[in-house]
Amino acid sequence: MNAAPDPYGVVGHPIGHSLSPFIHGMFARETGQAMSYRLYDVSAGEFAGFVAGFFDRGGRGLNITVPHKIAAVEAANELTGRAAHAASVNTLALRDDGTILGDNTDGAGLVRDLCDNLGLVITNRRLLIIGAGGATRGILAPLLGLSPTLVVIANRTPERAAALAAAFSDLGATHGVGFDGIGTEPYDFIINATSASLSGEMPPVPAGAVGRGTVCYDLAYGRAATAFVDWARAHGAAQALQGWGMLVEQAAESFRLWRGIRPATATVLAALKERSGNL
Ligand code: ATR
Repeated sequence: MNAAPDPYGVVGHPIGHSLSPFIHGMFARETGQAMSYRLYDVSAGEFAGFVAGFFDRGGRGLNITVPHKIAAVEAANELTGRAAHAASVNTLALRDDGTILGDNTDGAGLVRDLCDNLGLVITNRRLLIIGAGGATRGILAPLLGLSPTLVVIANRTPERAAALAAAFSDLGATHGVGFDGIGTEPYDFIINATSASLSGEMPPVPAGAVGRGTVCYDLAYGRAATAFVDWARAHGAAQALQGWGMLVEQAAESFRLWRGIRPATATVLAALKERSGNL
C-alpha cells in the first residue's frame, strides 16, 4: 500500500479563487512527488491556532496569502534573510528537526520572471514601483540585489514610501515620493504593487514616466487586463505584463523549499494563461 501523500496547502481569507492547488498539482505530477495540496479558508483570529494544528497533525508546508503574510512571521521559528527583510512570510516549511522555517518567495518569483522568463535586464536600469505596502516590501530586496541605477517608490501616502526607502537604503539607491514626485523622465521599468489595479483604479502616475522603451509589470493578474496594464498600453509602453509569471515562479520557489527540487514552470504558466483565457 502506498503511504499517504505529504500534506500541503494554502491559507488565506478569502481563498476560493486561489490557483495554487492547480499550480502545485501540476508541479507534483511533473516531478513525481507524493503530496496533497488543499485550500484553507482561515480568519485572522484563527490563523495562529490553525497553523500550529496543521503541523501537529503531520502537515509539511503551507503557502500563506492575504491577509496572513505578516502574522505568519510569528508562526515561524526562524526566518530566511529575505523573509526577515520583507517582514512577511508567504511560505512555511517543516524542517527535519521539527521546527518551522518562514520564507518569502515573492521577490525571487518576480526576479525569475523578469530575468529568466522574459529575458529582461534590471542592472543599471531605472525602476519605478507604485505602492508602498506589503507587496512592495516583498520585492524590494531581490530587485535591489540586481543593482538597478535607482528605485523610486511612489505612493498615495508619501510617508509610507519614504519609510520603506529608508528601510532598504543599505541595499541600493532608492527613494520614496508621492505621485507628484515621480517626474516626467521615462523609467525603464514601472512595477505596479498597489491593490488599486484590482478594483479598476489607476493611481495618477504622470504619462511622461512611460516611454517607448518602458516595461510595465503589474504584480496583479486577472482574466481581463488590469487597469494598470490598460494604462500602460494606452501610453505606448514597450511591454505591458500581468503577474502570471511571478505567481508561478514564487510557487516554484516554495515547492523547492519543501521538496528540494525545482519544477519546470513553462508548461504550468502556459496552462494557467490558457485556463484564464488571458494569453
Ligand atoms: P499589499 O500587501 O497588497 O501591498 P497594503 O499593505 O494594504 O497591501 O498596501 C496597498 C498599497 O496599495 C498601498 O501602497 C496603498 O497606498 P496607501 O499606502 O496610500 O494606502 C495602495 N493603494 C490601494 N488603493 C489605492 C488607490 N486607489 N490609489 C492609489 N494607491 C492605492
